[in-house]
Amino acid sequence: MIVAVETRPLTSARIPLFGTLERQPADALLGLIGLCRRDPRPDKIDLGVGVYRNDAGETPVLRAIKDAEHRLADTQATKAYLGAEGDARFVELLAPIVFGAAQAAEPCLTGVQTPGGTGALRLGAELVARGSRQPTVWIGTPTWPNHAPIFREAGLEVRAHPFFDAVTGTVDFSAMVGALEQATAGDVVLLHGCCHNPTGAELTQAQWADLIALLTKRQLTPFIDLAYQGLGRGLDSDAAATRALLAAMPEAIVAYSCDKNFGLYRDRVGALWVKAADGAAIAAVRDNLLVLARSLWSMPPDHGAAAVREILEDAALTGLWKTELEDMRARIAGLRAALAHAEPRLSALGDQGGMFAMLPLTHEAVLELRTDHGIYMADSGRINIAGLRSETVAPFVAAIAPHLQR
Ligand SMILES: Cc1ncc(COP(=O)(O)O)c(C=O)c1O
Repeated sequence: MIVAVETRPLTSARIPLFGTLERQPADALLGLIGLCRRDPRPDKIDLGVGVYRNDAGETPVLRAIKDAEHRLADTQATKAYLGAEGDARFVELLAPIVFGAAQAAEPCLTGVQTPGGTGALRLGAELVARGSRQPTVWIGTPTWPNHAPIFREAGLEVRAHPFFDAVTGTVDFSAMVGALEQATAGDVVLLHGCCHNPTGAELTQAQWADLIALLTKRQLTPFIDLAYQGLGRGLDSDAAATRALLAAMPEAIVAYSCDKNFGLYRDRVGALWVKAADGAAIAAVRDNLLVLARSLWSMPPDHGAAAVREILEDAALTGLWKTELEDMRARIAGLRAALAHAEPRLSALGDQGGMFAMLPLTHEAVLELRTDHGIYMADSGRINIAGLRSETVAPFVAAIAPHLQR
């Protein structure tokens, strides 16, 4: 059928499509990379962007990944499209590492590959927004700066709750619980599974148990962001909270990143798992995840996930990856211990986990350290501990000591 289109004479000036768009602030951390790069001082210290660095200050491709990539180059027979769920075998092999074998086999758990942890967070947010409840998403402060925008762009309301006690460098658990007591049944609570970014502060086992009791009592759903498994206390320990939450809660969402623990950053490798209340619900969840993924990115990029699959399919490569991951973890833990030992006011860093810590420094001090010492950290005082080298710990501590607020 041909539809007649009414043509009206142009009576006014054309209204531009993009005329109302406002300029947006540049990403502060990416700006910091540029600033640091342009600093000619040979002894500058880059603690800005959140990538692992070895003691030579490099972020090399893991040997396990290189081997897997060689195998892929030799054996991959096609690059034909996969489906919206990505590489199903990658998800299947990753699940027991995240959840343990028994929980990974849960029939009410479904997973898909995503473009990084960010893609997993966005897909999960879109799924939540599709549900009938239109919940508020509660997010602790401070948090990874991309969390709130991801949920807001999916159309969800975001509310902040306190998380960090900057004086003690630990979780302000009573303030967190006090705020979550105000949540409405059906709301969603975003939780860092381990290695909190930016503070490094983690709930104790007892606090996780109390939080699970609170979520249960108030009918809140956990949305777990697990982006650093293996970089805190070890693969199983770092997943313990996620596993406990999944075991206890009828519904849960887990956004996972392989970009840090496999060193795949730009290759964008992640997965999203959802636990639903019953078989019918999980089937509908999966259908909706696939429909949403199809319109968001059609299908996730293959290469990085295929390399992870190669590793997890082969015991020797898995062993090599675990050794390399443990080396990274141990180096970060060693730097934490060195910082805590060098300066009593940094003692909390020794008890925290993962790559990040938030130093009690004023904004002025952060800028002064940048100008006077070539020490680059986020404006908030967040440091990427892995940016330190054994020989830069002492000069770093000497430079920040006069500025520490606690
Ligand atoms: C807490 C947290 N969640 C998720 C992500 C996203 O990771 P990806 O690079 O896989 O998208 C990051 C990355 O920095 C992060 O710090």
